[in-house]
Amino acid sequence: MSDVQRFIRFCESEFGTAVMDREAAYVKRHVATDDRILDIGCGVGSLEERFPDHEIIGVDRSEEMTRAARERVSAPIVLGDATALPVATGSVDAVVFVSTLEFIPDADAALAEATRVLASGGTLIALVLNTRSEYVQSNLQREGSYFRRMAHRDSEVLTDTVSEYVDGERDLFLGISGEEVFESSDPTAAAISAVVGTPTE
Ligand SMILES: C[S@@+](CC[C@H](N)C(=O)[O-])C[C@H]1O[C@@H](n2cnc3c(N)ncnc32)[C@H](O)[C@@H]1O
Repeated sequence: MSDVQRFIRFCESEFGTAVMDREAAYVKRHVATDDRILDIGCGVGSLEERFPDHEIIGVDRSEEMTRAARERVSAPIVLGDATALPVATGSVDAVVFVSTLEFIPDADAALAEATRVLASGGTLIALVLNTRSEYVQSNLQREGSYFRRMAHRDSEVLTDTVSEYVDGERDLFLGISGEEVFESSDPTAAAISAVVGTPTE
């Protein structure tokens, strides 16, 4: 089974659906209904699927992911790299990374691009896997886990880097224990570490 098939299977499982629903709900709380949203590292379009009434564009550097996303969602899906976005300067109101930034070795280049494409006063939302959580740690230890491709294995350091680019808030959310998903901001239970803010001048 290919990476993409495995990922689709995860996204469509009960557990994956619960995870994606909570991530999308978090993003929704931080965007306006008429915001133009850019989803960087959109994968197979799980966020786009949950934003049918928003103007949202997905971008991913994987041809296979973008092909699968186009089959699954009607939102525009663009092939492109986070470090050289094929998107005009100042053209979107919100930029979102959902479990993507930690897979990009040059996070600074991706953040510089994300802030470049944001319109003045726009919102950057970075959701990164919380490496202090038991869920992420157990996946990092599991042979064959996709998480092992993470270029950044310390989410505190990565979220500190994001905070250098934006004025905003930080959160922990998405408690996971086994396949149970629940509300939690406990650093050992919350799988996601979030930074939301407006680019510093
Ligand atoms: C763990 S998946 C997350 C997908 C999606 N955001 C989600 O939550 O379902 C990480 C995604 O980031 C993409 N990605 C990794 N590096 C990238 C880069 N430099 N530019 C664009 N996409 C990238 C991968 O191809 C993959 O689809």
